[in-house]
Amino acid sequence: MAERAKRLQDQVIIVTGAARHLGQAYSVRLAEEGAKLAICDVLDCAETSALCEAAGAEVLSLNVDVTSEDATLDMARRTNERFGRVDGLLNNAGLMTNITGPSIMDVDPDWWDKVFAVNVKGTFLCTRAVLPYMRDQGGGKIVNIGSTTMLRPSNSVNSSMPHYVASKGAIMAFTRSIVRELGQYNINVNTLAPGGTDQDVDLTGSDATPEESRAFGRRGVPSDLTGTVAYLFSSDADFVTGQLIAVNGGKEVS
Ligand SMILES: NC(=O)c1ccc[n+]([C@@H]2O[C@H](COP(=O)([O-])OP(=O)(O)OC[C@H]3O[C@@H](n4cnc5c(N)ncnc54)[C@H](O)[C@@H]3O)[C@@H](O)[C@H]2O)c1
Repeated sequence: MAERAKRLQDQVIIVTGAARHLGQAYSVRLAEEGAKLAICDVLDCAETSALCEAAGAEVLSLNVDVTSEDATLDMARRTNERFGRVDGLLNNAGLMTNITGPSIMDVDPDWWDKVFAVNVKGTFLCTRAVLPYMRDQGGGKIVNIGSTTMLRPSNSVNSSMPHYVASKGAIMAFTRSIVRELGQYNINVNTLAPGGTDQDVDLTGSDATPEESRAFGRRGVPSDLTGTVAYLFSSDADFVTGQLIAVNGGKEVS
């Protein structure tokens, strides 16, 4: 990347769901900005680890199921043991499970629970796990991942995904519910809400899928989001907390 100050130099940041796609893109960008990373997933993080190390980062790879309290406590403890502090947490791990048909009647109640376990309980557990470290060291920053699906009526009768959308709405509400409590410890907590983002496209967006409902006429690509994540972990965002930041290329959200 171009010569300029690395704005996250030596910040220690945990990224969940880091093995692929957006979690991988966030991790690489944070590495490029100088952060030390604990990359966590139920999948193997070897590829993300190699990319982050190539960007100059110190990396700790951890197998973590965010639905397990023990695993999330271990994640925070091992990160602190390795790097001596925990400055940031990116709650990116998520489940967007398929449904068999277009109706709310097609959403298996067990899948409702699975999606809420990863997206909502996982965000809660990871936040609880890092809080003592951030509090004791005098501050930190947490970014939760929502989705702009939670801000507008569903696109069509074929895309309601009520379990996923409701889980993302819960993440926004969770973020707002803890902002005052965490604020007293100098801990920022915000929600980043991506719009629909293509994964396997080039990073310039030039071959992203066209989409007329967006002001910029296309779906997002990972690099559309990574700069906002880097900003939210930086000192530029020291007075930003409790906010919802939608990054979706100008799609109407309400
Ligand atoms: N891609 C999009 O268009 C889009 C839009 C809005 C929001 N989001 C959100 O962004 C995040 C990443 O999306 P993505 O498209 O890269 O999804 P993805 O499914 O490719 O990646 C999610 C990652 O989370 C991991 N994960 C799942 N369950 C886990 C668990 N129990 N413990 C730890 N890790 C677990 C998966 O293994 C995977 O690596 C998700 O929270 C998603 O809801 C994505």
